[in-house]
Amino acid sequence: MQQKIIILDFGSQTTQLIGRRVRELNTYCEIVPYNKMPYDDPSVIGVILSGSPFSVYDNKAFKTDMSLLRRRYPMLGICYGAQLIAYEGGGSVEPAPSREYGRAKLTTVSADPLLEGIDTDAQVWMSHGDTITSLPDNFTIIASTPEVACAAYHINGEQTWGVQFHPEVFHSTCGTRLLENFVVGICGSKRDWSAESFIESTVKALREQLGDDKVVLGLSGGVDSSVAAVLLNRAIGKNLTCIFVDHGMLRKNEFTNVLHDYECLGLNVIGVDASERFFSELAGVTDPERKRKIIGKGFIDVFDEEAHKIKDVKWLAQGTIYPDCIESLSITGTVIKSHHNVGGLPEKMNLKLCEPLRLLFKDEVRAVGRSLGMPEHLIKRHPFPGPGLAVRILGDITREKVTILQNADDIFIRGLREWGLYDKVWQAGVILLPVQSVGVMGDERTYERAVALRAVTSTDAMTADWAHLPYDFLAKVSNEIINTVRGVNRVCYDISSKPPATIEWE
Ligand code: XMP
Repeated sequence: MQQKIIILDFGSQTTQLIGRRVRELNTYCEIVPYNKMPYDDPSVIGVILSGSPFSVYDNKAFKTDMSLLRRRYPMLGICYGAQLIAYEGGGSVEPAPSREYGRAKLTTVSADPLLEGIDTDAQVWMSHGDTITSLPDNFTIIASTPEVACAAYHINGEQTWGVQFHPEVFHSTCGTRLLENFVVGICGSKRDWSAESFIESTVKALREQLGDDKVVLGLSGGVDSSVAAVLLNRAIGKNLTCIFVDHGMLRKNEFTNVLHDYECLGLNVIGVDASERFFSELAGVTDPERKRKIIGKGFIDVFDEEAHKIKDVKWLAQGTIYPDCIESLSITGTVIKSHHNVGGLPEKMNLKLCEPLRLLFKDEVRAVGRSLGMPEHLIKRHPFPGPGLAVRILGDITREKVTILQNADDIFIRGLREWGLYDKVWQAGVILLPVQSVGVMGDERTYERAVALRAVTSTDAMTADWAHLPYDFLAKVSNEIINTVRGVNRVCYDISSKPPATIEWE
């Protein structure tokens, strides 16, 4: 049986990060809402309680019955999680005199298995407005910082710990060791979760689930759908048919190159050039949301038509990944689900859904792809929006504009690769602006288009900073675009961060 750690989510922004850190310890974990503890699952070896935007004494605070958890599972409370265990046990939690935020030095007060191997004076990251001011009798403080006496505690005679800092964030230098002490040392993880073990068990499960059924899958050229396809191909071979739709707004040569990659991987893939239909439906449309809707619906229709040409299809496979599925809690307690490009597809097609990557984080998807022997350039590809260049051409879309943008984009992306910068940025692209400006070329006055280069660094696209690319590189790219892309005489570099800007301009 696959061992698992449960992370009870009380709504913190770092809950997913806790999950990733546990997986990095080769231990399978699941993030579940604070009130959905799977008490009857025998594979649970330990529980972690996340932070929360609430104070434990708030009326609306998320609570869970500690008597069902304590002494039953090894348990680690982080920040709010630690405060909740202490508060429910009879301790006091009050607003901190000053908000405790940022780096702090952790000093061990009492030797403890949770702190094994952690240097005295390790750095931890604090982020809380409340603090534990008194502990119940049977709790022992095991570590302090200059500002926080009870930085970490252990309940005597119980496998329960609490830390008021955040071991999951990068700035806590001892965080990985602390989580390892808990997950491996205390909970007894056998560290049997790896890309290889995932592939082996998933291929077996897919064969059982699908039998001789036929499956269709929509490829986008992105990492998730590509890895899902290769994994399914390993499980069921030719019973999988992949459909790759060209809406005409992909990058230069993308359709041909990616189709070739897919064929080399042995996939049974149908490439559909539907660009004519998309260009005619988009003619004259300037509103960004309408562009998205037209492309989303057109994609579903084309996919549906193609899938119906294959006989007896029973399943629709998708490259949905874990962050798409986790139900994250908003402050009001309502459940938010992330948006999907082709949201209407499963309903319209009336097929059963198969999502073999739905338990994986992005970095795990990449590791699985590598293990399956996929080429590095497919695995490390930047994210690219479903509606493609349509949301990077401000205003209406024509074939001529797409060609101009494809050429400029190609110079930028090729340049990033040649200068060894591609893997250092999260994503990059060029935007075609709806302005013309005066220039001079040779002895001629020109009045042509402007483009903006956009490159950002990020970890999850929720926030992003503009990439500080070298001036020499920007100069070279700008020269090459203006000299070789007809119709463009000005290049700008977008230096906006997200928030308040977004990554895409539309
Ligand atoms: P924004 O522009 O909101 O983008 O900062 C965040 C991330 O999402 C991508 N993006 C999209 N992806 N369909 C997609 O599949 C879309 O309509 C879409 N809009 C934005 C964007 O490229 C970035 O990675």
